[in-house]
This record gives sequence, C-alpha cells and structure tokens, in this order.
Amino acid sequence: MAQTPVLNTARLTLRPFRLGDASRFVTLAGNLAVARMTSDIPHPLHIWQCRRWLRQARGEVRFAIEHESELIGGVGYFCQRTRVGELGFWLGQDYWGQGLATEASRAVVIYAFTAGNLEALTSANFIDNTASAGILGKLGFTANGRMRTHSIARGEDVDCTTWRLEREAARILYGLPVPADAAAGGWTKLLARISGR
Ligand SMILES: CC(C)(COP(=O)(O)OP(=O)(O)OC[C@H]1O[C@@H](n2cnc3c(N)ncnc32)[C@H](O)[C@@H]1OP(=O)(O)O)[C@@H](O)C(=O)NCCC(=O)NCCS
Repeated sequence: MAQTPVLNTARLTLRPFRLGDASRFVTLAGNLAVARMTSDIPHPLHIWQCRRWLRQARGEVRFAIEHESELIGGVGYFCQRTRVGELGFWLGQDYWGQGLATEASRAVVIYAFTAGNLEALTSANFIDNTASAGILGKLGFTANGRMRTHSIARGEDVDCTTWRLEREAARILYGLPVPADAAAGGWTKLLARISGR
C-alpha cells in the first residue's frame, strides 16, 4: 500500500502519525469522553499502548489531524481485501463542535475513493453517539443496520448503527474523477477545490 500522504483542507493538515505523537495522543484520547465512543481505545490509556498503536498495521490508512500546527485527533480506514474500508475518526474534546471532524473525514472519503481506489466505505457508531451519526449522514453514508460491538473503554457491548457509502454514490455526490484521472493525480486538484483552497 502506498505511503500515507499529507492532505490539506481549509483548516486542517492530515499527515501520517509519528512516534513523537504518543504523549499528545495520550492527553487527547486518554479522556474517557473520547475513548467510550470508540470500540478500541482503552481507558485508562497508557503511553506504551499509544506507541504500539502508532505503528501502522497492514491495511490501515491513518491520518493524524493537525489544527494550527497541533495534533487534535485522528481519522482513517482499515482496508479489507474486498477493497471495502472501515472509516473511523476522533478528536480531542476541546475541538468538538466546530465541524472539524466532518472536514477531516470528508477529505479522507475523497482520498479513499480516488487515490485509495476503494469500492465502498463502511462505518459504525454507538447509538448514543449522535455527533458521529450526524457526520456520517453529512458525508453521504446511508444507515443500513444495527449490530452490537464491544467497547473496551466501557467494558461492555453497545448497540451500534452501521453505515455504508458505495463508490458510485460517492462519485456522484463529490463529483469525483473517473479512476484513470484519479490515478493521474486528479484527486489532489479535487480536494483543493472542495476544501476551498
Ligand atoms: C464524534 C466526533 C468526532 C465529532 O466531532 P466534531 O468535530 O464535533 O463533529 P462536527 O462538528 O464535524 O459534526 C458533528 C455534527 O453532529 C451534530 N451533533 C453533535 N452533537 C449532537 C447531538 N448531541 N445531537 C444532535 N446532533 C449533534 C453537530 O451539530 C454536527 O452537525 P452540523 O454540522 O450539521 O451542526 C467527536 O465528538 C469525537 O471525537 N467523539 C469521541 C470519539 C468518537 O465518537 N469517534 C467516532 C466513533 S464512531
């Protein structure tokens, strides 16, 4: 898989995580309000767990979200062999409510369906996570089911809504280039246009 690139939006820089992000990561994601809305962030969160997490695993496309030169969260997807990616995102609590997660996730959705060449993106939110459902709806995902997923931080299974966005729906919604243009770098121009740069 190609190296994670740097993506720029109107207010954000999305870049690869680095090991030096570990202590800031603990500060942001060590907050129970953040961890309890995810399936895989433990609470309490230790720096050794962060360092292990920061080493990107095969199939993962992950971006650190920077705002005004500071790490504020993460967004990315896990790509399965079927070229379906599972989208996830989180922000430190001080940065909620400003549309920043929507802005970061939109850039990654565009990347996933162009340079990433995915067939579909899926996602899931715990049913008490209205903000996440709001973001997925705004990004064009369709809610398509329910399941129960374990939350490590809560220590219990929680009901989730599942979501899916097909490549063709994304192509129409975002005006994405056909795959040949995307391979030629059309997605970078598109991202610049959508993010107003
Ligand atoms: C979910 C999360 C990323 C949202 O980040 P954010 O930057 O505040 O989100 P945005 O501002 O881009 O968009 C949130 C949308 O949900 C809406 N929303 C937020 N809280 C809401 C609530 N309680 N009820 C209804 N809508 C709500 C917002 O109004 C906004 O929609 P709008 O732009 O149409 O007004 C952030 O709260 C977070 O990191 N939470 C912890 C981790 C997490 O939940 N990750 C996602 C796992 S699926």
